Amino acid sequence: MKGHSAAALGALLVGVVHPVAANGVVQWDIRRSQRSQEFTKLRRRGSTFNEVISNDEARGGYFATCQIGTPGQNLTLQLDTGSSDIWVPDSKASVCRKFGNSGGCNLGAFDSAQSSSFEVVGKGEFDISYVDGSSSKGDYFTDVFSIGGATLQNMTMGLGLETDISYGLVGVGYAVNEAIVGSSQSVSSAYPNLPVNMVNEGLINTVAYSLWLNDLDASSGSILFGGIDTKKYKGDLTRIQIYPATQDIFTSFKVALTSLEAISPSGQDTLTSTAFPIAVVLDSGTTLSYLPTDLAMQIWKEAGAEYSAHYGTAIIPCSMQNSQGYFSFGFAGPGGPRINVTMDELVLDVSTDGGPQFTSGQYKGETICEFGIQNISSSPYLLGDTFLRSAYVVYDLVNNEVGIAQTDFNSTESNVVAFASMSATIPSATVAPSQAEVTNRPTVTVPAYAASKGFTDLSASGTAASTSAEQNAATPTPSRASTGQMLVVSLTMLLTAVGSGLFVAIL
Ligand SMILES: *[C@@H]1O[C@H](CO)[C@@H](O)[C@H](O)[C@H]1NC(C)=O
Ligand SMILES: *[C@@H]1O[C@H](CO)[C@@H](O)[C@H](O)[C@H]1NC(C)=O
Ligand SMILES: *[C@@H]1O[C@H](CO)[C@@H](O)[C@H](O)[C@H]1NC(C)=O
Ligand SMILES: *[C@@H]1O[C@H](CO)[C@@H](O)[C@H](O)[C@H]1NC(C)=O
Ligand SMILES: *[C@@H]1O[C@H](CO)[C@@H](O)[C@H](O)[C@H]1NC(C)=O
Repeated sequence: MKGHSAAALGALLVGVVHPVAANGVVQWDIRRSQRSQEFTKLRRRGSTFNEVISNDEARGGYFATCQIGTPGQNLTLQLDTGSSDIWVPDSKASVCRKFGNSGGCNLGAFDSAQSSSFEVVGKGEFDISYVDGSSSKGDYFTDVFSIGGATLQNMTMGLGLETDISYGLVGVGYAVNEAIVGSSQSVSSAYPNLPVNMVNEGLINTVAYSLWLNDLDASSGSILFGGIDTKKYKGDLTRIQIYPATQDIFTSFKVALTSLEAISPSGQDTLTSTAFPIAVVLDSGTTLSYLPTDLAMQIWKEAGAEYSAHYGTAIIPCSMQNSQGYFSFGFAGPGGPRINVTMDELVLDVSTDGGPQFTSGQYKGETICEFGIQNISSSPYLLGDTFLRSAYVVYDLVNNEVGIAQTDFNSTESNVVAFASMSATIPSATVAPSQAEVTNRPTVTVPAYAASKGFTDLSASGTAASTSAEQNAATPTPSRASTGQMLVVSLTMLLTAVGSGLFVAIL
């Protein structure tokens, strides 16, 4: 599922890769795309987005630059844990045609005729669709794929000959979720996708990687294949189970969200939902987070956000970026990991120059920001980037576990530990003690909203700050964006996208 935005402009910071000098791991730096200037175009209706057909569409998310072919062609691709194929737009695809200053594939398109190692392996077999109707179709091919000093000689990828998406993706999900498996209806058609191929080529020891998205204001993070970096999180990593789609088949990173608390200088509330325990998909390809409506409404009330029927989204004054409140997400039952998400990670600018204002009500005259937690009426519920930035998450696709801990924002230190061997469990992680009890349904009650006053009372800043989780964060350090190792590429952006967690193969 994917949103659209016309007439949106933004800039994308594209990172180069800093290879990590350690055996058994491969690291890429990833950079966040800036959000759109226009969000009035985005209208959610029920569980689909209305269509605004435009060549200017693009999703938010995290991007990395790689080289494909011989000689290598540079392409900047979106990293996505919610899908499982690498695919690139073909340079002759109509979406890559430029109309004056608009259109075109600014992040790069692949010209297969210029690659001596290009080989088609599945003519017409690549076919992937989003819930909103956008898609990419074409051939499967093999070619050389390099990133971060790591080269795969024979990587299977999709070539988007017919697509309405102007940049490609690197899907790092389960191989069984590849588009070819959906279209052929046969698990045996699965090919070794990127993380599996890295294992086959001896670059990493097991099918696992760690994702550190970093602070909303930092624009850069990293993905580390084959290992963890113990300096990028606080406390201990806790291992929790991934839910299978059916019996033993795992297709997405779905875990059990079992509690949610709102905490502020004025108090603390336990929020409830008839949906607990909630199966939530951890999806880096989704910009916002989507929870059941009853829970989302409690969150909005605590935070001072409100649902706007006009925009079709929950909104909040931008000044709430300074709120001292935070939400504590609990996983895998009592004693399981908890991730605190502060308000500055949840209040998202929709414009870089002023932007729309509230025209009535208690916030009249204040600038509108979009709220990072939205509602959705049915599963799949999603924890996207607005949640994931606050967490360090290790995805272990062999043991079907996720390791999770509170992130250490802006950490510049590094201590990389590789997984010891194929099917080794996540290094230095303890297992959540009461995972077996996650089927318990907590009592549904109406919260007292004791925390609410502290969320919206911005004058409390400073004194209350010392109790907030964020104060434990690392001292601010210059962002990596200032090291000069980046390109600034102009790009049309979209505001919000429910991403490729909902990437579905056409059946
Ligand atoms: C690809 O990117 C690298 C590093 O960013 C740069 O040195 C090289 O010139 C680029 N190649 C092309 C063909 O643009
Ligand atoms: C490349 O990979 C494809 C698909 O996995 C496989 O069928 C083919 O034999 C491989 N080619 C070489 C030269 O290894
Ligand atoms: C989200 O909540 C609002 C306010 O309760 C409601 O009008 C809207 O239909 C809900 N959206 C979805 C997708 O359930
Ligand atoms: C998250 O918030 C809870 C509740 O206030 C607190 O006990 C915990 O220490 C916080 N965690 C971190 C990592 O700051
Ligand atoms: C991280 O770095 C960014 C950019 O320098 C800064 O705006 C932000 O406040 C920092 N975050 C924390 C938690 O220190």
